[in-house]
Amino acid sequence: MSINQICMISVNKTELPRTQSLEWYERATKVIPGGTYGHTSPAATLPYYFPYYVDRAEGCYLWDVDGNRYLDFMCAYGPVILGHRHPEVEAAADAERKKGGLYSHPTTVMVELAELLVARIDFADWCVFGKNGSDMTTWSLQVARQATGKKKVLVIKGAYHGVDAWTNPSPGGIIEEDRSHVHTFKWNDIQSLRETASAHKGEVAAIMVTPFHHPAFGANQMPETAFVEAVNDLCEKESIVLIMDDIRAGFRISDNGSHGLFGWKPDLSCYCKAIGNGYPVSVTVGKEHLKDAGGKVFLTGSYWNDGIALAACKKCLEIIKDQSVPEKLANVGQSLLDGLAKAAKANDVKIRCHGPTATPIISFDNDPDLRKMQRFSEFSAINGVLFHPHHNWFMSLAHNEEAIREAVEVAEKAFCAMKEEEI
Ligand SMILES: Cc1ncc(COP(=O)(O)O)c(C=O)c1O
Repeated sequence: MSINQICMISVNKTELPRTQSLEWYERATKVIPGGTYGHTSPAATLPYYFPYYVDRAEGCYLWDVDGNRYLDFMCAYGPVILGHRHPEVEAAADAERKKGGLYSHPTTVMVELAELLVARIDFADWCVFGKNGSDMTTWSLQVARQATGKKKVLVIKGAYHGVDAWTNPSPGGIIEEDRSHVHTFKWNDIQSLRETASAHKGEVAAIMVTPFHHPAFGANQMPETAFVEAVNDLCEKESIVLIMDDIRAGFRISDNGSHGLFGWKPDLSCYCKAIGNGYPVSVTVGKEHLKDAGGKVFLTGSYWNDGIALAACKKCLEIIKDQSVPEKLANVGQSLLDGLAKAAKANDVKIRCHGPTATPIISFDNDPDLRKMQRFSEFSAINGVLFHPHHNWFMSLAHNEEAIREAVEVAEKAFCAMKEEEI
């Protein structure tokens, strides 16, 4: 039997149990629109062999309701940074849970966490907490409008800032007025920035950017220094509030926010994924000159005083710094990309690797419709590794060299099979 025949056999094990997943999905479609919605919906072009319903998770693995085990490179789309059920974070959350957890008043842990963030993030003078990333991007825009008395916000074409009406990428339920003060310019394109800004001169409250561009259905793109400087200068010259949406990468590539790595000079920065190791918490930090405006934009929610998530967040941020987590994620992500590049080369498959290595992704040459990426992702899922087909992946502290070896072995089988199939 040739090596390629061995590859084909292992990637074609279509008998992967799916019964429970499909039964639960069928039940769900009767009582939940679409069965499961958002980016985890099977309709969101995820490979058929991605699990629908998860039963449990530990470290860098999760198990679906059919008992299939997966090596997880999605980490809940980012929130799990230390690995599922990290014992120290769980202990911090449990201690708070035993005391009560949610009251009509905040707990002192909110103050301690705010002090930690203000001490840690170089430009931060104050901070507030929410639950999801969208809470904070929308609130930050309102603060910018309150502070400047202006309406417009400029964002990068193709960037994602959450599900609120002004920025939701889907047209469902959105009216023209929701977006009438949102204008786009192109990433790394200074001329596009200047043209958009001058078309709305004197009306712009905020520019919102991510530290690097991570569009869905595309590779990560790093910012050019000249572009960063042009955005910083424009904001300073025209008193536009620069909002850093660091929700996806924040604390994964640096232990004090991502802006400094690229030279951004934000006035406000939003964080969410990765700061609570899976507990629901989001943050906006800001400069002193916006503190008054921040106090004037009403901010609340049923669960926003939840001490359990805040305690988990505090412990998580302490571990991120004490254990040099961003450096470790960068290294293990590099090992993964090196392994994938070698495995692809051995099979004559042409791929490109994209960083930052803590939030990596690969792309295939000549793959405009992402068909190859989809097939790679499907082959890998059948063999127990979750590589998303069109969203960057996430490394966690639980991904060790053994997990990387397992991932590369599975990827090699996938490349081998793709070569056979001439995809
Ligand atoms: C860059 C960015 N901004 C905002 C959001 C919205 O965060 P949430 O889904 O927690 O509302 C996300 C979520 O993926 C994101 O990646």
